[in-house]
Amino acid sequence: MPTGHRKIIIAIDGYSACGKSTLARALAKRLHYLHIDSGAMYRAVSLYVMQHQIDIHDPSVMADALSNISIHLSFENDAQVTWLNHENVEEAIREPRINQIVSDVSTLSAVRKEMVAQQRRLGRNKGIVMDGRDIGTVVFPDADLKLFLVSELEVRVERRWLELQKKGIEVSREEIKENLLLRDNIDSTRADSPLRKAADATEIDTSYLTPEEQLQIAYDLARSMMGHQELED
Ligand code: CDP
Repeated sequence: MPTGHRKIIIAIDGYSACGKSTLARALAKRLHYLHIDSGAMYRAVSLYVMQHQIDIHDPSVMADALSNISIHLSFENDAQVTWLNHENVEEAIREPRINQIVSDVSTLSAVRKEMVAQQRRLGRNKGIVMDGRDIGTVVFPDADLKLFLVSELEVRVERRWLELQKKGIEVSREEIKENLLLRDNIDSTRADSPLRKAADATEIDTSYLTPEEQLQIAYDLARSMMGHQELED
């Protein structure tokens, strides 16, 4: 990154499979920033819950579980790797079985409190792009740039289906659609930090934009926040 630029925090929120992580990763790469996929942290907690058959509705059992969970993120070739209690779980947390419970786990305030504290620590030095559901509203309400991604349901289903196909995971489009709708509903109606567009967020409909077009829009917005005369392309 050029010298003398102002490091900023960029928050990208939106529904599942709207392209948040793809955009956040590409934008971070272009700006030489760190990309944090906050969903990975909720997925890691969910994996632990599943592995240990934790009753998430029992607050003391859940508090105990949280005290035994340590989530760590490392970065290899610009890609985030998620570690759960020193085990690389990057692949395991993307399995469809996690999609079945992650939104329920994410409704719990005890879980959110811990994740948000860790996310804020990661943003201490700015120079990050973080994607999730509550980044612009709760984690970094003062973020310099907030983007809110939306996309048509059929497009989201196709994107997620292709993503899973590439990983050799067989799931029908119908199952994906049901899960996306279920998670949209749980994520946007929960009491603690529901998914919503921050008043000062810029909405981008990614349905008919290529990843490159999305990146250009986001990059131009970021650049205007940073003072573009100090940046080079
Ligand atoms: O990849 P996808 O968009 O499907 O989901 P994700 O970003 O990995 O997030 C998985 C789930 O974690 C979401 O459906 C939310 O329930 C939860 N989440 C959250 O509550 N808050 C965040 N900041 C990020 C994710």
